[in-house]
Amino acid sequence: MFKYMFTEFRSYFFSLIILNFFCSFQMSKAEAKTTIFITGGAGFIGSNFLQYMFDKYDDYHFTILDSLTYAGSLKNISENIKCSNRFEFIKGSIEDEELVNRIMSQSDFVVHFAAESDVTRSIHDDHIFLKTNVLGTRCLMSSLIKHRDKVKRFIHISSSEVYGTAYTVPMAESHSLNPRSPYAASKVGADRLVYSYYCTYDAPVVTFRSFNNYGESQNEEKMIPHFIISALKGIPITIEGTGHQKRDWVHTIDFARAIDRALHIEDFEKIKGKVINIGTSVATSVIEVAYFILDYLGLSRQQYLQYIADRPGQVDLHIADIQLAEELLNWSPEIDLQEGIISTIKYYQTLYN
Ligand SMILES: NC(=O)c1ccc[n+]([C@@H]2O[C@H](COP(=O)([O-])OP(=O)(O)OC[C@H]3O[C@@H](n4cnc5c(N)ncnc54)[C@H](O)[C@@H]3O)[C@@H](O)[C@H]2O)c1
Repeated sequence: MFKYMFTEFRSYFFSLIILNFFCSFQMSKAEAKTTIFITGGAGFIGSNFLQYMFDKYDDYHFTILDSLTYAGSLKNISENIKCSNRFEFIKGSIEDEELVNRIMSQSDFVVHFAAESDVTRSIHDDHIFLKTNVLGTRCLMSSLIKHRDKVKRFIHISSSEVYGTAYTVPMAESHSLNPRSPYAASKVGADRLVYSYYCTYDAPVVTFRSFNNYGESQNEEKMIPHFIISALKGIPITIEGTGHQKRDWVHTIDFARAIDRALHIEDFEKIKGKVINIGTSVATSVIEVAYFILDYLGLSRQQYLQYIADRPGQVDLHIADIQLAEELLNWSPEIDLQEGIISTIKYYQTLYN
């Protein structure tokens, strides 16, 4: 236990030293036109969003607040960002009111990704899910209200998991909220809390309910990376139940483009307080994704698939109605699933071959 903690501390300590060494040429924040505060920017979607925005806006400053749980890593942030004077990384929690207030007071935009995000983990221990996802979001909301003169837009990242299994197809934002796991319930809590701050305090918020994301740097316990890495290692892919569960898979860069639109839309009043789905309106089953990965890598379906019991609280079907995103943000997905999975396989091949 102590050995593990020491190793963790040592690796974190060395990453900070390396980060400081490479980033010794700091530009003052005052030189940047706009500061974006990103919570959970060392996680999967947050780090992809950071890279997308960093490449696109060369005069923006990015402040990342991330507590670096098992899911977050500085390795998810590219060296060119870490070396930049437009980047500041703060290790800390979204529940730390003083810290959040300090960052909020210097930010123009906020994008809130930080969360406990794994459904299976939430089945075994839901306490941290409620604490981070609900109370952490509360801390940010309360700080937003204090700094409303400075912060112009706050994007809250919710999830399609709040809907539960589809009653109507495709699933519009008006679909009833029937969370089927403690993770999903905690996301409902945060999602509706953000909405209540809009109603009560006129908070400048927009909530995205994204469907399943995939892409580079996703935690290896998540489905698509888990399938790809198993196949690359020659280990059979594990399918829960029959693999019939269908999801709407959206590439994380497509999601980043949608958030960017919301941050820069001219008439923000048009989207303020709204909940907007992000997906593709195409549902693909888990087993189809597994087949595609195995076929692409030339591995036998018979040999490289194994079935286990289905997860309790499983969601059978998710498919997004994205009309609102199209209408309000002029956004639609651009990355086709097969093309996106191939580029994701190539990314993991560079890590595992
Ligand atoms: N991955 C998906 O398919 C998906 C789909 C829809 C919505 N979402 C939502 O998008 C967001 C990001 O998801 P992800 O897949 O990138 O998750 P992730 O688990 O990869 O990243 C979450 C990040 O939050 C950080 N974090 C956790 N607790 C924190 C705390 N108390 N303070 C500060 N940082 C903390 C972690 O260290 C990590 O870097 C989450 O809110 C998630 O619910 C994810």
